[in-house]
Amino acid sequence: MIKLALTKGRIEKKAIEILRQCGYDMRDLDDKGRKLLFNCPSSGIGDSLQIVLAKAADVITYVEHGTCDAGFVGRDTIMEMGGDFYEVLDLRFGICRFALAGVKGRDFYAGHGHKIIATKYPNVTKKFFASKNIDCEIIKIEGSVELAPILGLADGIVDIVETGATLRENGLEVYEDISPISARCIANSVSIKLKDKEMNSFFDNLELNASRKDD
Ligand code: PRP
Repeated sequence: MIKLALTKGRIEKKAIEILRQCGYDMRDLDDKGRKLLFNCPSSGIGDSLQIVLAKAADVITYVEHGTCDAGFVGRDTIMEMGGDFYEVLDLRFGICRFALAGVKGRDFYAGHGHKIIATKYPNVTKKFFASKNIDCEIIKIEGSVELAPILGLADGIVDIVETGATLRENGLEVYEDISPISARCIANSVSIKLKDKEMNSFFDNLELNASRKDD
């Protein structure tokens, strides 16, 4: 049996759909209520999956510690947290991007003063501004980061942009794209060795079905 940590929320629905296409019986997750652990038998000859629903950062923690053999998590969290695991597959859903954004019509790069950036992703932000040799002060925000430039707390934000609706509806715009993001399958390095056959056939099946899906 493979224990798989799935990120709750944004990528959950698509992940469940792909696992169903892979031949797992995902009915346990259809009416999940507040449950966090699910058993998903394989309809074929493959082994069953035990699914753990967790927050993105915790998916990485569970996989790093070997509590879970593998996990589905966005590249945004991987870029921010890093960690000791294998990034096995680009699942090609949950597609969005990291971008620098701020109040519409302003010239972000004008002037020589240091920039104040609000973000949920301080490490990604630090790296981005370091690569441009721009001095920046980072203010960590936990959610609805778009408020920070509107309220005058920051010159800009570094955040995820998917449809762009949140920026648009709040009078903000993208100043610069930073990096593309999609959901990734990660794996624990020991599990890959100990459950070699089982995990590789799981990844092959996943790759096949992830490449088939319509986004
Ligand atoms: C993310 C991100 C933006 C929004 C972008 O927030 O931080 O606010 O989605 O999506 P869009 O381009 O399609 O509008 P999320 O929904 O994860 O909630 P949060 O702000 O509470 O973290």
